[in-house]
Amino acid sequence: DQLKIFTPATIANVSCGFDVLGLALDTVGDEMTIKKVAKKGVTITKIIGQNLPLETHKNVAGVAALALLAEIDCEFGFEIEINKCIKPGSGIGSSAASSAGAVWAMNELLGKPFGVTDLVRFAMEGERLATGVAHADNVAPALFGGFTLVRSYEPLDVISINTPSELYASVIHPQIEVKTADAREILKTNVSLKDAIKQWGNVGGLISGLYTEDYDLIGRSLEDYIIEPIRSILIPAFDAVKQKSIAAGALGCGISGSGPSIFALSKGEATAVKVAEAMKKVYENVGIDYDIHVSKVN
Ligand code: HSE
Repeated sequence: DQLKIFTPATIANVSCGFDVLGLALDTVGDEMTIKKVAKKGVTITKIIGQNLPLETHKNVAGVAALALLAEIDCEFGFEIEINKCIKPGSGIGSSAASSAGAVWAMNELLGKPFGVTDLVRFAMEGERLATGVAHADNVAPALFGGFTLVRSYEPLDVISINTPSELYASVIHPQIEVKTADAREILKTNVSLKDAIKQWGNVGGLISGLYTEDYDLIGRSLEDYIIEPIRSILIPAFDAVKQKSIAAGALGCGISGSGPSIFALSKGEATAVKVAEAMKKVYENVGIDYDIHVSKVN
């Protein structure tokens, strides 16, 4: 009556798809143990690796778990233990991993009464607590795996997108914290028609490239004309990291979620490793500490 799970880190936005596109990393993430217990409700028993609130109502996994329990009659409760490997505020879906992992495991232990889109809806409540906005572009790929598209928020319509088998991500995390709420605060609320045309051309191009496994088309589509020009100012040496990643063979490079992590996508693991080396060199030259990950997109 307990499950020990891996719950993945995710890259939201993927350059052109602010709040709608996301992808899951195969080998970067947290571990969680979820137990069925006699005591009703949800108890967060332990968080290893980070100093995060244990009170159920203040914890993203707790809030997501309560959203699930609100829609089912349950004669027992759950205990949740989290081993955090993803740093909060890093831009690779730390809160989403906890929220998604909790509801996924609970659904399994309950005999799967809910579909995956329901689980996305519950996990979004964790995102609402973390950022003030219930965005789904991290929790959706964490729950479905691979690439996902939030076609619509009202009603919620999440689509699992074909994920080419040779797609790898390199992600570098400069050791500064950017709160998603702050990184949303600085965005403009209006978009020019000229920029919108370029942006939706890229969203269509990226989705088409993912289905046809056309890596060049994927690369051409990885540009963001709306969010990146504003947010990149918060990220040290962003332009240099992007330029060196592409010179090292990446298909494209951009801000991971709300930053400060920067991601690049590559065809094949060997190229992704080279790209990660190029990213590292930039931060070593400017003297900024970093974490770096290379993972298959899956
Ligand atoms: N789409 C969200 C944002 C993702 O960019 O604010 C946050 O991880």
